[in-house]
Amino acid sequence: MNEAAAASRALPTETVTEVRHWTDRLFSFRLTRPRSLRFRSGEFVMIGLPGDDGRPILRAYSIASPSWDDTLEFYSIKVPDGPLTSRLQNIQPGDAVILKPKAVGTLELYALLPGTRMLLFATGTGIAPFASLLRDPDTWERYEKVVLMHTCRETADLDYGRKLVEALPEDPLIGEMVAGRLLYYPTTTREQSARMGRITDNLASGRVFSDLGLPPLDPAHDRGMVCGSLEFNSDMKTILEGWGLREGANSEPAEYVVEKAFVG
Ligand code: A2P
Repeated sequence: MNEAAAASRALPTETVTEVRHWTDRLFSFRLTRPRSLRFRSGEFVMIGLPGDDGRPILRAYSIASPSWDDTLEFYSIKVPDGPLTSRLQNIQPGDAVILKPKAVGTLELYALLPGTRMLLFATGTGIAPFASLLRDPDTWERYEKVVLMHTCRETADLDYGRKLVEALPEDPLIGEMVAGRLLYYPTTTREQSARMGRITDNLASGRVFSDLGLPPLDPAHDRGMVCGSLEFNSDMKTILEGWGLREGANSEPAEYVVEKAFVG
């Protein structure tokens, strides 16, 4: 065995239990969960596959399942020439995927000061950590209302999030907690749908709040979490700071947090 292959062999693997293809660009999958993996909803882990030369190709992936779940869910883009996703999109139940059982992240409930309304802002597969947080009772214990805003290019790209939101009231653990407290605001930018436009534009214009019948952002009560492309994250920072929200960290909780590891 060469040195590169030995490097992959040395890393722990988990088994694929389920794969679902949502569109030709998006898929989700589940892996067995190692007993040693402890994480807080919203965090990410490094997962990957061996490359052609046997060397491991690892990327940060937000865990989309909540911390109490027995298996681990992930939601991914498929990039045709992407070093990892061009391979990962072909996984089947029973296959092995490398998973380093150490979770970290910045989308931490503990990095936010107490508040009453939680606003979750995502583009594309950036909804993954929110799929975890929305299924965690801790989120519903801390906030009276949660607003999920998700922008994608086309309506089919919203399906994963829509299904998740539809399933929440039926969830045996948090179904009753969610009733009447989740507001969902999906938008598309490149295909006609009920609501159009980038979240950033709909926020800046105040349209989100008038559409949902909500008061505008107030740093005294509102808390935010942002997860999307680098450009989106930076645009959101500008908007949220313009409203007087400050970026928080576990060491110094404040009003909003941004996912730092997310790519894609
Ligand atoms: P748009 O179609 O106007 O680029 P992608 O698939 O490229 O990751 O984009 C996912 C969604 O995020 C698209 O609807 C895209 O809108 C939107 N988007 C991309 N960049 C930004 C940004 N800086 N602010 C708000 N939305 C963005």
